[in-house]
Amino acid sequence: MPHEIPASEIARAAETLRAGGLVAFPTETVYGLGADASNRDAIKKVFAAKGRPHDHPLIVHVASASQLAEWARDIPAAANVLAKKFWPGALTLILKRAPAVSDWVTGGQDTVAIRVPSHPAAQALLRAFGGGVVGPSANRFGRVSATTAEHVRSEFGDAVDCVLDGGASDVGIESTIVDVSGAKPALLRPGWITAAQIESALGVSLAAPDAQSPRAPGTLAKHYSPRTPLQMLEADLVIELARSFAAQGKRVAVLARSALQPLIDGLVWRAAPADAAGYAHELYANLRALDAAGCDAILVEEPPSATEWIAIRDRLTRAAAGAAAEEDD
Ligand code: TXA
Ligand code: MG
Repeated sequence: MPHEIPASEIARAAETLRAGGLVAFPTETVYGLGADASNRDAIKKVFAAKGRPHDHPLIVHVASASQLAEWARDIPAAANVLAKKFWPGALTLILKRAPAVSDWVTGGQDTVAIRVPSHPAAQALLRAFGGGVVGPSANRFGRVSATTAEHVRSEFGDAVDCVLDGGASDVGIESTIVDVSGAKPALLRPGWITAAQIESALGVSLAAPDAQSPRAPGTLAKHYSPRTPLQMLEADLVIELARSFAAQGKRVAVLARSALQPLIDGLVWRAAPADAAGYAHELYANLRALDAAGCDAILVEEPPSATEWIAIRDRLTRAAAGAAAEEDD
């Protein structure tokens, strides 16, 4: 259950946004690092706090789909269908941008990302503020997203003016991103709302992004990475590798769906839920806890390949790529 946040605290947070400050806020997916989407100086603070390259565009969060036309133009029927079906919720739509939208929001592209979150605190903040709020995931660039207020504080300390504590994010992984700005709707980032659900709402199949699709730089191969090198492996290989690391005197942290912990000296073991919803809900908290254990390696038991695991596998694959591609950031 989300924590209730007093109306006075929401009002103060909206005031902080108006004054050009940074407000971290809970959403049902992950926490966002919020700033007034119409205030260039406020947006610059978001990039500085995250250490994010300036050409990485930001999602504009609004309270309701009725605000779409303030941020987007040439809104296609597909956008309205998806908005009606999935908003408020864990879906981000890429649309042609309205002329007034800043290049600082769009990364200089002709498109803008919009989402209407469902978390009651996000809704209350957006309604109290009235305008659009940019909200990248509240983590430092390339690192593990935040799903609690505590995660946000440990990422940013005093660099954020206000952190609204709405409890642990329900979904636990970032929104599904669908581009409806081009000739064919395309899936830019998998999320808890699956491609199949989007396709069934639209009655057409989703295209894979092509050269014409808007860039979604947050889908870099390396992303969501703990500091400890992470590998994703089949269950028996996890145990085998953990034993071989232990034999070399190395400490290993494991994230496994099975509760059957092998007897290996110094092993840090976290049992993840066996169902996809539970697994996603705890994923980033688990990665943060395993990272904090200060081991030489994190080994993650490969999740199943069924549809509801696709977004989880996507995040873990990118987290693992961090170990292989240190040069990225
Ligand atoms: O669930 C979420 O989407 C969270 C919560 C806080 O709403 N936000 C989030 O923001 O994940 P961020 O900035 O960490 O990821 C947004 C992704 C990035 O990959 C970015 O490149 C992409 O959206 N994006 C933003 N604007 C875009 C645009 N105009 N065209 C293509 N991709 C865009
Ligand atoms: Mg992010």
